[in-house]
Amino acid sequence: MQYFFILGKNPILSEAEIVAVLGFNDKKFKVLKFLDKVLVLDMEKELDVEWLNARLGGTVKIGKILDQMYELDEFEDKFLEQVTFGSGKAFFGFSLYPLYRINHIEKFQKKLNAIAMNIKSRLRDEKQISSRYVVSKEPELSSVIVAKNKLLKNGAEICFFIDKEVIIFGQTLAVQAFEEFGARDYSRPGRDQVSGMLPPKLARMMINLAQVKSEAVILDPFVGSGTILQEALVLGYQNLIGSDNSDRAIEDTKKNLDWLFEKSKVESLKSKVMKLDVKDLSAKFDANSIDAIITEPYLGPALRGNESQAQIEKTINSLESVYLSAFVQFAKVLSKGGKVVMVFPIYNVRNFQSNLDILLQIEKLGFVKLNKEELVYFRENQFVRRSIVIFKKK
Ligand SMILES: C[S@@+](CC[C@H](N)C(=O)[O-])C[C@H]1O[C@@H](n2cnc3c(N)ncnc32)[C@H](O)[C@@H]1O
Repeated sequence: MQYFFILGKNPILSEAEIVAVLGFNDKKFKVLKFLDKVLVLDMEKELDVEWLNARLGGTVKIGKILDQMYELDEFEDKFLEQVTFGSGKAFFGFSLYPLYRINHIEKFQKKLNAIAMNIKSRLRDEKQISSRYVVSKEPELSSVIVAKNKLLKNGAEICFFIDKEVIIFGQTLAVQAFEEFGARDYSRPGRDQVSGMLPPKLARMMINLAQVKSEAVILDPFVGSGTILQEALVLGYQNLIGSDNSDRAIEDTKKNLDWLFEKSKVESLKSKVMKLDVKDLSAKFDANSIDAIITEPYLGPALRGNESQAQIEKTINSLESVYLSAFVQFAKVLSKGGKVVMVFPIYNVRNFQSNLDILLQIEKLGFVKLNKEELVYFRENQFVRRSIVIFKKK
């Protein structure tokens, strides 16, 4: 059984998340294709797409591969044979994902529009189904268009993966819950734009990368507005601890968790939120009492892009010492095999990238770095990029 995944803006990170979630849940699979934002997996067993979609933060669409063909002309019959609709008006639309650099995408799209008109007539004449063909200016329909135009309810979004020789196509089964992610970001009561907030989708990916059981005790020692704990709560984790050295952060996190808890189906929440400097963690928590530390620490002052290299190095040095003192504490409070998933900043100023250099010291404290590939979350014009690093306590 083959499934496709349309990945978010940082595909390497999204792929790592999918591999982590499937692996942790004992799902066996082979990666068939991973190109740009398209990942195709061959699953040993049928996949519960709803379950997986509700879990992931970095995937925009998930669907099932239906078939492949050598010429687009074969598509009309294949669609009518393989795609079924319920009663009432049907909706369908197409998204194109070239797997190599093609320059005839408009030609392809034009041909597909003509095929769509034939499909519409044949649905009406042969199956007595009235239908609407949903189009967009872009070669692909966004997940918002797919959800809002009923393409998942009584409809079909067909995604075409155009390779050099063959055209593979599949039907979308789920799209990311963009409204819920947006609400947890913008509608929550406690927001602190000054100290910065993690995008909820990234928080979600970080939790998934930690690969911990639902009864695990999760700590965010730089809790800020509580984004990571919020996403952990949505995923069903109930043993949540947040700490921070700012009163404002504690207040915001409490407000946000109460707001979310009320809206959630979770019955009980054993969350603790407290004011605490990261260097005092082991004075507060028992040795080996935490299963995972998932956190975005202070990333330094906001950058304008005109900082000198000397200024940047000064910031890096001061962060190195805060982070190392944090890891000394993490080594004490984490259980054996416990995970740390943490954001490390990469400064990207005047096209020059600078980062912290403390891996060896962290390893000496008893940690192994698990991710071999760099997992970076960024937008092109950002001065501070986020590198996600996964450690395990030996
Ligand atoms: C980048 S923010 C975390 C944002 C958080 N991930 C969110 O989405 O809201 C960093 C937080 O670290 C806290 N902080 C900075 N230095 C600290 C320290 N030494 N001990 C504990 N918290 C600290 C700040 O108060 C701030 O809330």
